[in-house]
Amino acid sequence: MSSPSDPAVGGDAPRGQLWHGRFASGPAAELVEFTESLSYDQRLLFSDIACSKAHVRGLHRAALLSEDELGQILGALDTVEMEYRDGSLGFVASDEDVHTAIERRVTELVGAVGGKLHTGRSRNDQVATAFRHYLLTAIDVTAARVIELAEVLAARADEAGTGPGATYLPGYTHLQQAQPVLLAHHLLAHGWALLRDLDRLADCRRRVDVSPLGAGALAGSSLPLDPAETAAAAGFSATFENSLDATSDRDFVAESLFVLTMIGLHLSRMGEEVVLWTSSEFGFAVLDDAYATGSSMLPQKKNPDIAELARGKSGRLIGDLTGFLATMKSLPLAYNRDLQEDKEPLFDALDTVRLGLGAMAGMYRSIRFDAERMAASADSPYGSATDLAELLVADGLPFRDAHAVVGELVRRSIESTIPLAELVAAEPRLGERGVALLAPGASVRNRATPGSAGPEAVERQRERFEDRLSALRSEWSG
Ligand code: ARG
Repeated sequence: MSSPSDPAVGGDAPRGQLWHGRFASGPAAELVEFTESLSYDQRLLFSDIACSKAHVRGLHRAALLSEDELGQILGALDTVEMEYRDGSLGFVASDEDVHTAIERRVTELVGAVGGKLHTGRSRNDQVATAFRHYLLTAIDVTAARVIELAEVLAARADEAGTGPGATYLPGYTHLQQAQPVLLAHHLLAHGWALLRDLDRLADCRRRVDVSPLGAGALAGSSLPLDPAETAAAAGFSATFENSLDATSDRDFVAESLFVLTMIGLHLSRMGEEVVLWTSSEFGFAVLDDAYATGSSMLPQKKNPDIAELARGKSGRLIGDLTGFLATMKSLPLAYNRDLQEDKEPLFDALDTVRLGLGAMAGMYRSIRFDAERMAASADSPYGSATDLAELLVADGLPFRDAHAVVGELVRRSIESTIPLAELVAAEPRLGERGVALLAPGASVRNRATPGSAGPEAVERQRERFEDRLSALRSEWSG
């Protein structure tokens, strides 16, 4: 990259810049340093080349390039791609972004003909096109990772079971024990959130999948180009309707950032739970050694760093999203250089979420759940309080009265330290039927409504989850 002392910058030979014609002298070093995007937009190179190939084929169809010129430019684009892959593509100080660098290198390779590559195109439509093209693949990669994690959760839910001997744990509200739930139910709760993420990715992807190529700088072109044909050749499903909108729209970036942030938030909630569950106070789960870290000072420590970073990195995702929304706010039509700030947050969010999903999948695949600790914690008799109240309701008592009867038994038990079972046995409206509900695992087996935490309901839910997941799997692989 260029540096302020670079002799190629700030001199009086500005031919390297795409826009040199209008300028008598070259750019200041500070301008080059502050405005460049090549250091981070290089990852668009393959997409830019693919879209440039579609563009030059369009120029050829419009008789703006001869067969021979087309062949030369396509060949040069292939060479640039190869040079980038093998690390031999050098950059020069005037390459302000990857698009400039590619055109500069093509022109070095084929001479003056290279100057025809940019016919009927502006970097404004070019950059939006390459960015969308890149993002389509990145969304597919993200979706594959979300599916992988959802599969891991489904497999672990399967293992946790719904039949006799199924693993159950306390369910919490306010982080206070509320009612016991099957572990399968708990894991699938995270799974459904991931399936919604896949829906959101698919919906957002439809709006990414629109080509702005042909919109030019802001108003299209006088040349006989066909944006729809170029869009199809570049692999897009649709073409822009309005050139001002096409070059300045970054809704697709904001939306993608939101969907990625939402995935990150889901990972943060799962991560927080693993942090709690692997603490000695909870003891509900033990991390596999490969997915835990040690302490540099405390020899006994086994730390849940993946889970903590899943939690922590959600902060930067929120920053990526909100920072970009602030950049977009109040921008006048059409392209403004501010829009160059779309790339770093989205690349960061894509990387963060991709790596987070992979690490969480590995961690969840290998974590060991301690079914006994979970059951011991869930079998507090107070977890059955609602079941006792519902037993009274089944006998015709209004729920408010039933609630009060059981609430009083709980209070007396806590105040007197008499076991709840004894008080229940002595309460004529409950008796042995009530005591039976206090048995280990009885409460969770007592849940029956569709979508509830009980065995039959979770069994049906598991099937529905598998069905939905396999539908999504084929949607994303098709
Ligand atoms: N690097 C720029 C970006 O990412 C390319 C567009 C520059 N367009 C312009 N008119 N200066 O947005």
